[in-house]
Amino acid sequence: MKSLLFSRFLLLLPWVLIVIIVLDIDSSRAPLPALAPRGGGRPAAARAPPQRRPEAAALPTIYAITPTYSRPVQKAELTRLANTFRQVARLHWILVEDAAARSELVSRFVAGAGLPCTHLHVPTPRRYKRPGLPRATEQRNAGLAWLRQRHQHLPPPQPGVLFFADDDNTYSLELFQEMRTTRKVSVWPVGLVGGRRYERPIVENGKVVGWYTGWRADRPFAIDMAGFAVSLQVILSHPKAVFKRRGSQPGMQESDFLKQITTVEELEPKANNCTKVLVWHTRTEKVNLANEPKYHLDTVNIEV
Ligand code: UGA
Ligand code: MN
Repeated sequence: MKSLLFSRFLLLLPWVLIVIIVLDIDSSRAPLPALAPRGGGRPAAARAPPQRRPEAAALPTIYAITPTYSRPVQKAELTRLANTFRQVARLHWILVEDAAARSELVSRFVAGAGLPCTHLHVPTPRRYKRPGLPRATEQRNAGLAWLRQRHQHLPPPQPGVLFFADDDNTYSLELFQEMRTTRKVSVWPVGLVGGRRYERPIVENGKVVGWYTGWRADRPFAIDMAGFAVSLQVILSHPKAVFKRRGSQPGMQESDFLKQITTVEELEPKANNCTKVLVWHTRTEKVNLANEPKYHLDTVNIEV
């Protein structure tokens, strides 16, 4: 009797396993529940996505300008950013392609990104595409121009905050809570940058008094692009502030830009007086495609 039961169990086992696998695939397809804010009462899954929560309407909009260019890891980078930005209320993503036209890959990506996006493009002139020259100058300026134009005819401007979100960084959700309260220009540490574990503004009595950096601490603002945010008011009241090609060396872009709109004394330290790292200059490893030419191409064309 016992052995009969056991053999029946053995017969059923494959079916049980199949059911478990199918259920598992199904749950992996289910949309991820939005993150509940700290102390939120209701279960996360029952809440509307951050962008559509009624309380979000009162928040200043965060505009994130991301220059981006075509390369094997581009879609992976943008996916990581979108997965973060989608969880931030009232974030408007300004994606600026370094290209003569909008690419199909980024257009399709933007259409499915699930957050408010503006998709721009401007090519970097060939003469500036050289090692040792600053990157993404034209793209960040295109984002600034779009922002200024959008708000030109809408006095008084809605409260808003701008920051420059390069596509090779990793952003924590806490960073957006910090920058949201920017009055003029706010600053915070950046991890894995300047050949050090982190760089940060040095703060005394709530004021920035210097820079802990791996490189040229003598810069007026010795800070990475990922280390500051600017209020929309400041961007609009300094209509000529842009990133400059002429006279600007790599690594000086941030400082040259900030010089046009603020002073060190005015800076607002965030992230617990600049003692917390909430953004990392992770940089994705250059991908190895050395075996591609050795094998025949796939018969289908798959976007990566
Ligand atoms: C560092 C700083 O973190 C950047 O903010 C600064 O723009 C850059 O130096 C510089 O040299 O100007 P790094 O990692 O060396 O960054 O530069 P990338 O992250 O490769 O480029 C910065 C941004 O520009 C990225 O969002 C990238 O996608 C974009 N980019 C880069 C272009 O749009 N076109 C390019 O040809 C290269
Ligand atoms: Mn970078």
